[in-house]
Amino acid sequence: MSIAPDNKSGGDDILDNTLRPNKWDEYIGQDSIKQNIKIIIQAAQKRAQPPDHLLFYGNSGLGKTTLAYLIAKEMNRPIRLASGPALERAGDLVAILTNLSDGEILFMDECHRLNKTIEEYLYPAMEEYKLNLILGRGPMARTMELKLPKFTLIGATTRPAMLSSPLRNRFGAVFQLNFYTQGDIEKIIERSSRLLNIRTEKQACQIIAQRSRFTPRVANRLLKRVRDFAEVEGDGLITSEIAERALGALEVDEMGLDPSDRRIVETIIDKFSGGPVGLQALAAATQEEEESILDINEPYLMQVGFIERTPKGRLATKLAYEHFGIKYPHLI
Ligand SMILES: Nc1ncnc2c1ncn2[C@@H]1O[C@H](COP(=O)(O)OP(=O)(O)OP(=O)(O)O)[C@@H](O)[C@H]1O
Ligand SMILES: [Mg+2]
Repeated sequence: MSIAPDNKSGGDDILDNTLRPNKWDEYIGQDSIKQNIKIIIQAAQKRAQPPDHLLFYGNSGLGKTTLAYLIAKEMNRPIRLASGPALERAGDLVAILTNLSDGEILFMDECHRLNKTIEEYLYPAMEEYKLNLILGRGPMARTMELKLPKFTLIGATTRPAMLSSPLRNRFGAVFQLNFYTQGDIEKIIERSSRLLNIRTEKQACQIIAQRSRFTPRVANRLLKRVRDFAEVEGDGLITSEIAERALGALEVDEMGLDPSDRRIVETIIDKFSGGPVGLQALAAATQEEEESILDINEPYLMQVGFIERTPKGRLATKLAYEHFGIKYPHLI
């Protein structure tokens, strides 16, 4: 089974919700983002105004949705969820915007996938809290201005480069969520163990953290799978031995690479002599979706220094050769 961070099948949505931090203290890591957001919220509250529109970007499972919920909680405001690709017509967006209440937070997930026509309705809504509706067609057409409640838009995207610049520029603050440190992931696993009533030895927690791709969602998912193993094979206590065995059975190696990551790196090395290879050719040779290579595998493989992206395509690095025990062909 895949451990990809955005594969939310198999009850992972429920897992996300049960483990989602509800207080600032429970939101581990990302300290400077937390600090900045707290200031934005406090300043807005002092002025009795809604906070600026905020944009969060970063890989899947790093905590963008969680942050949006936290802000709503912190401000004691309702939050409404919307998603870029789910809005098919401008009317869908108009319906959402006109139903907001004053001070409400609108969370727009995957905002890079908003349809361009719909996106244009957002511009005046974000800037001046108004909508310009066009009624009728041709010479009879006229525009009508509709006032909207003062809301805060929180946008989230895994692909900031695909966001149009007019939309991006209308966010008052943009935050990039980074991969977590080993220590932070360990804290997240400890917290999740407490919440799920799982007994986990300290060393086992370190082992799971090491293989979690520096990503909270992956950490929680691996913890859950290792727990299954511990319950079937032992008395439920997650020892380091059980953790090692379970992760081995899940084909997650000591660097956190899953079978699809390995296939990608090995294909670059074996079939393309280490690269450079273009995305399309790589997707065809590995039978992976281009999208999942871009969103799931590549960010992590680059983070651990196994592949490099050059204008000519992807290259396998010396580190990758070493990890797979293959002789590096070039002199450095
Ligand atoms: N800083 C954090 N501290 C503790 N747990 C976290 C943190 N960030 C995320 N999590 C956990 O990871 C899960 C996934 O986070 P979240 O759904 O917010 O990710 P996301 O960035 O919105 O991902 P996607 O792009 O796939 O929507 C959450 O349910 C939560 O349990
Ligand atoms: Mg999300």
